[in-house]
Amino acid sequence: MSNGGGAGGNRDRGSSNGEGGGSGGVNGGNGLDIDGLIDDPATRIIVCCGSGGVGKTTTAAAIGLRAAERGRRTVVLTIDPARRLAQSMGLTELDNTPRPVKGAAGPDGPGELHAMMLDMKRTFDEVVLAHADPERARAILENPFYQSLSAGFAGTQEYMAMEKLGQLQATGEWDLIVVDTPPSRSALDFLDAPGRLGSFLDGKIIRVLMTPAKVGGRSAMKFLNVGMGLLTGTLGKIFGAQLLTDLQTFVAAMDSMFGGFRERAEGTYQLLKAQGTAFLVVAAPERDALREAAYFVDRLAADQMPLAGLVLNRVHGTGAPQLTAERAQAAAQALEESSAENGGDHGAGNGAGNGEQHGTAEGAGSGAEREARQGAAEALAAGLLRLHAERVEVMGREQRTRDRFVSVYPDVPLVEVPALAGDVHDLDGLRLIGRQLAGGSDR
Ligand SMILES: Nc1ncnc2c1ncn2[C@@H]1O[C@H](COP(=O)(O)OP(=O)(O)OP(=O)(O)O)[C@@H](O)[C@H]1O
Ligand SMILES: [Mg+2]
Repeated sequence: MSNGGGAGGNRDRGSSNGEGGGSGGVNGGNGLDIDGLIDDPATRIIVCCGSGGVGKTTTAAAIGLRAAERGRRTVVLTIDPARRLAQSMGLTELDNTPRPVKGAAGPDGPGELHAMMLDMKRTFDEVVLAHADPERARAILENPFYQSLSAGFAGTQEYMAMEKLGQLQATGEWDLIVVDTPPSRSALDFLDAPGRLGSFLDGKIIRVLMTPAKVGGRSAMKFLNVGMGLLTGTLGKIFGAQLLTDLQTFVAAMDSMFGGFRERAEGTYQLLKAQGTAFLVVAAPERDALREAAYFVDRLAADQMPLAGLVLNRVHGTGAPQLTAERAQAAAQALEESSAENGGDHGAGNGAGNGEQHGTAEGAGSGAEREARQGAAEALAAGLLRLHAERVEVMGREQRTRDRFVSVYPDVPLVEVPALAGDVHDLDGLRLIGRQLAGGSDR
């Protein structure tokens, strides 16, 4: 595990002592105790949120696996996981129910990992079926408006993720539910989802839909053109005169089950606020990403959602933390000068060419060849030193970004997870991330 040292160092790398390796306080912030969180039987739901592409799905899966291997009966609800990661958890198709993950947690241990991918459309169907009598449910499910709505309405995925969470929680089967969240363009979509669905059904749109249906075709079409692009054009052409009838049927049917819908959305929203729920905000150590994370932290606070802490994911480290960028640059320059003296600018290229031409004489190479080889080695070393210098500069930038966040949010617990060399696409990768989330602990 080549990154282990880097991670420990990352976590504790205060600006003064680099890879201190000491335990305890991160400079200016507190460490996020992931094991404490997942081991606590009172923790029942962990929600991983954050902006797009930062590692929400990876974090959710890694936490789920770690919790399972530490003895909890865990389910992970993922949303659009990368294909290889999904396969490694045995998720080959959207089937909307949790499946046991092979190879996660021992067969004899108390812990278990189950995983599922959210099927948005099917979850929406389940909601309809749960709230309408069978005949009405069928009318809704077959209605073209419903079909467009359930597939495309902005916020549907967020809402359905919450709906699924509510369903999983209601079974009472799980010690711990770890929830991934959709890559919303706006981080707020996720928290807004229950309210948004409520306002869709309760508010303006439904009133407008009902009104033109009563007063006749012309104003209805006017609304449709203005208000709901999906109803114009294609759908209008396909369904023609049938359109308004369908619309009316749909609205009436939705309206009749609306009470249940809203109640449910509100119930799930309350569940998010409840004791036993913990939010983790995942972010990359970059300015824009952390700015969004800050916004998220504020929003969670405003909604009184329980924030457990911030996961700073894909933090860069180095195997040679004691070598500063300046020293590496200076050494690179010295080497390049020496390399130039040893063979000029063409030293490296010629060195290789000569070597080939005089393959048999390699061992007893002339002084000139030796110098050329040395020149090439020096040029290579100089290149590596410059790469190191760049890496150290990236680390410095990341650390300053992180420190700024910590200075504004000193009370938000934080953990850093190093950038691994490749993608995280199997259980071993998830285990490694889990260990880093726990501050490098193997226990
Ligand atoms: N610490 C890490 N080191 C290396 N690769 C990582 C790390 N964390 C995540 N990745 C990789 O980054 C990519 C994005 O991660 P992930 O899918 O978890 O992000 P996400 O926040 O869920 O994205 P989206 O918003 O699109 O759902 C994946 O390929 C994943 O393997
Ligand atoms: Mg994701």
